[in-house]
Amino acid sequence: MISKETSHGSSEEEYDRRRRAQWLAGEARADGVARRDMLRLLAAAGAVTGLAAPTATAATAAATAAASPVAAGGTVPADAPKGPGIVKPLPADRFTIRGTNAETKFEALAETGFHTPASHFFVRNHTATPRLDAKTWRLKIWGDGLEGGGAREFTLADLKRLPSTSRTAFVECAGNGRSFFTTQQGQPASGTAWTLGAIGNARWRGVRLSEVLRRAGVSRHAVDVMPRGLDAEYVTDDGTNLGRVRRPLPLSKALDDVLLAYEMNGAPLPEDHGFPVRVLVPAWVGIASIKWVGDIEVSSTPLYSPWNTQFYRLFGEGHPPEGSAPLTHQTLKSAFELPWNAPVPAGRTSHLTGRSWSAKGAITRVEISTDGGGTWHKAHLKDTPRRGSWTRWTTPWHPRTPGPTTLLARATDTTGQTQPQTTPHNTQGYLFDAVVRHAVNVV
Ligand code: MTE
Repeated sequence: MISKETSHGSSEEEYDRRRRAQWLAGEARADGVARRDMLRLLAAAGAVTGLAAPTATAATAAATAAASPVAAGGTVPADAPKGPGIVKPLPADRFTIRGTNAETKFEALAETGFHTPASHFFVRNHTATPRLDAKTWRLKIWGDGLEGGGAREFTLADLKRLPSTSRTAFVECAGNGRSFFTTQQGQPASGTAWTLGAIGNARWRGVRLSEVLRRAGVSRHAVDVMPRGLDAEYVTDDGTNLGRVRRPLPLSKALDDVLLAYEMNGAPLPEDHGFPVRVLVPAWVGIASIKWVGDIEVSSTPLYSPWNTQFYRLFGEGHPPEGSAPLTHQTLKSAFELPWNAPVPAGRTSHLTGRSWSAKGAITRVEISTDGGGTWHKAHLKDTPRRGSWTRWTTPWHPRTPGPTTLLARATDTTGQTQPQTTPHNTQGYLFDAVVRHAVNVV
């Protein structure tokens, strides 16, 4: 049994420790995870000296590959067209293209409301948006964590016949704000150099994952579920094929507030955001919200994938050698709806606007400094603050003297957490939450 608490940090650590012990005993699976990553996880836990991998692993991997409906998918061909592989238009006034991804320009959100339209919503693709046919699409639920072990398939129509739930939630990349580790703290981090635009807040509609798992016959022995995308297999820069994008979720979380979403802002899910169905894990790092979900393994043994071993843990000085527990909740941030080095007129009142958000509590206060942190005053909050969503704010500013200056916005949430001045570094640049120094030019 795992506790209901695994969605919280300390319990995730506890669960991670248990996963490791079970892997050592040959009772957990790590298909597609590099042996060196498993050894690092175990060595740091003091569990391994000259260890051979559990003998069960190779056999289970082969069995899983055979049982898996999508394990034999293709990779991105070497001659695939270059470019972001994103279907929707990416006008330069709304998006900054970063490799296979598109970051929303925060200033472009000023023309949108509380919900982010698909036309402005950031895209994070490990490879490229696949073109899927809703008529032939199936969701396969399979694995030894189901009663009787038999797989169940659902069409889109099947899912739509089940009771639906709507909720507003942001999807935010774990690495949002990563570039500020370098530019504000002088500490480089690997990965996409996002500023603050790897977030969007939408109204999602779908069926609860718990409802589908119940109908598929989840057994009392199940501990992990692993949704997997139908996009191409992901090959790292050094040529290692990590397979399809997938990340285990503890069953307790899967049964809690997770949706299988088929609508975004009242319309069918757009192709780039997971059409026809994506997983939506509210308030957790974006990687948990698997797009284009094709199958979900329900396992009676704990699971690993590269996305909860090699990525999406905190590594580096100040963190355990095996990394932190796998990341769960996003963090606290604020952003101005202004371009970098925006010109602001002197001798006139401008209305500065922005947004603050927190994964763990509702925003209680946003303070603004227009003099580089010397003095602070409260911004006016425009939305009823809610956990896992953002709150828009505004504040008047009447700058008198022309020249460069720095704007700061600092949020506090109902957990009592306030954005700090710096974020402890981690090598992959996750969970940046420090106050961002936004340069503007008074003209
Ligand atoms: N799901 C699949 N199948 N493939 C992916 O590349 N990227 C993940 C997640 N789900 C990804 C995925 C990451 S890292 C993030 S931040 C979110 O999707 C981004 O969702 P969006 O592109 O709809 O904004």
